[in-house]
Amino acid sequence: MPIQTASLHAPAKTGSRHPASRQPVARLPAPSLEAVGVSKSFLSGVVRIQVLQRLSIAVFPAELTLISGPSGCGKSTLLSLLSGLQAPDEGEALALGQRLGNLSKRAIERFRLHHTGFVFQGFNLFPALTACEQVELPLGYLGISSREARRRAREALDDVGMTHRADWRPAQLSGGEKQRVAIARALAKAPQLLFADEPTSALDATNGQNVVDILHRVARTRGTTVLCVSHDPRLVRHADRVLTMEDGMIRGDWRQGEAQGQAAGVIKEEE
Ligand SMILES: Nc1ncnc2c1ncn2[C@@H]1O[C@H](COP(=O)(O)OP(=O)(O)O)[C@@H](O)[C@H]1O
Ligand SMILES: [Mg+2]
Repeated sequence: MPIQTASLHAPAKTGSRHPASRQPVARLPAPSLEAVGVSKSFLSGVVRIQVLQRLSIAVFPAELTLISGPSGCGKSTLLSLLSGLQAPDEGEALALGQRLGNLSKRAIERFRLHHTGFVFQGFNLFPALTACEQVELPLGYLGISSREARRRAREALDDVGMTHRADWRPAQLSGGEKQRVAIARALAKAPQLLFADEPTSALDATNGQNVVDILHRVARTRGTTVLCVSHDPRLVRHADRVLTMEDGMIRGDWRQGEAQGQAAGVIKEEE
């Protein structure tokens, strides 16, 4: 549960040191996503709910990072800060080295359009469009010709094993198939950052596994930063790195093959 507090939130710590200089593990590449001391609260009636509390993380390319934690602990909020959808109350979010707080609303929209892809629990497909049209649509916003958009859409659908459903509409597809179309839509523009919010929570074990395998493959073969948030415990063993979150804070950070609890990129506040 998020922490409820009557006051606004703790005062900001001074200074905004770049976390890369404090990375304890030298072999890691530069982080592609960073949260540096971010806090976020929402007003609910007269009570302010402190959702994130001075949270700092660094996320790296070419791996599937999972943020795992119970419902309501602030996962989606954190994702929205890292993707520029919302601004933190304090601290800062960086994506591909850009301080999102320094960008205008328009620049953030452009950044999101060009560099980010999203996959949601509810698929968010248009009922009237075929699978191929769903994938083509955002490519049009990028100014890509309809012929090239069609080619890329077919390629993306092929990538997720959905070529045979290219002309089907959402009502004709299973949940797993819908999610694969949604992933193809996110991948067609080859984003450097792929965000997934509970991508398997509406799926059975087999389809959930299929979706995670695709996300994992995208990270490994394309070097994409794949950041997935979920309360689905089935995902934990399929992620390259798992950050566990509770009460708006990161409690654990480990990579497959490392002992649990061993820090793998959480930025520790200096004493
Ligand atoms: N826009 C908002 N307005 C008010 N409360 C919000 C808003 N967004 C999230 N919250 C609250 O913040 C808490 C964390 O939400 P969320 O980040 O969605 O958690 P999770 O994704 O881990 O389930 C919840 O108590 C939720 O009700
Ligand atoms: Mg959520």
